[in-house]
Formats: sequence, C-alpha cells, structure tokens
Amino acid sequence: MIREIVIYPDRRLKEISKPVEHFDESLHALLDDMYETMIAKNGVGLAAVQVGVHLRALIINIPFDKELEDSQPKENTLEVINPTLLEISGETDFQEGCLSVPGVFEDIVRAQYVKVEYQDRFGEKHLIDDDDFLAIALQHEMDHLDGKVFVEKLSYIKRKKFEKEWKKLHP
Ligand code: CO
Repeated sequence: MIREIVIYPDRRLKEISKPVEHFDESLHALLDDMYETMIAKNGVGLAAVQVGVHLRALIINIPFDKELEDSQPKENTLEVINPTLLEISGETDFQEGCLSVPGVFEDIVRAQYVKVEYQDRFGEKHLIDDDDFLAIALQHEMDHLDGKVFVEKLSYIKRKKFEKEWKKLHP
C-alpha cells in the first residue's frame, strides 16, 4: 500500500524515532509499504518517519541502471533497522534530494566512508560499510531517524535562499 509522504516542514519530521522492538508482521507491512511508496515517488531511500511512523527503520534501493525501468527490484532493497554508526571517515560532497522536500537538490557535505551495524526485518544483526553513494544514502536516511532533514545541513545563506523559495512554492 502506498502511504502518504510527510512533507517539509511538517513537525513530524523533527521527532526522534524509537528503536524497533518487535520484528513482526506490522514491521514487515511497514517495510513493504515503504518500498511501494518509495518506488511510486521515484526515490532511492526512505525512512519510516517520512510516512509518519516514528520507528528506527529505513530502506535504500540504488538503481543499478538509471536508464532501465525496473532497476530497483524489491530484492535489492536494503532494509536497515536500528542502525548504529561504528566508523566514519573522510569527507565528500554529493547532490542530494529527499522525498519529503520534493524538487530540491543541493550539494551536501558528508563523510566519505561509514560502517554501520543494523538489524534486518527478522532482527538478525549485520554489518555494512561503503565509501560511495550507499554511504551518502545511509547518512541521509539515518539523519531522518534523529529528526534531521538534509536542507538543515546547508550553509546559512543557501538555507535562507531555500526557505524563501520553498515558502513561495508551498505557502
Ligand atoms: Co530524505
């Protein structure tokens, strides 16, 4: 089921999400719905808070070929529950977007490399590390779990410009 996406600056995006304790049917339904919603909106990542559920759960599915349709099959979806950052290093910038801030793309500075421990939908623990786009996506989505949206990382001047333009488009 496609769920409604919470759009910036909705207060719900600022809430800190709680750890997932029950790896049950309702979590699985949430993750399945998040996938359908993300695909419907042409996203590559989505945190539960973006569909109004304050649980530490996020999904990422990076298209293997942007030119191809169906390049984000469900089985390629990384489902990340209760993530913790174990290692972080380097610095890079990358143009990011967010389904909660549709139409806005900005260069954001983040760590180049991250190592993350997380649980899957059955509660099994895993480790993942990356120094490419997945590292950026993990940091972007993990920020959502702590109530942060990527535009908050813009410089003061760029943030002011964004807020002014956003208010014009979304009065
Ligand atoms: Co986002």
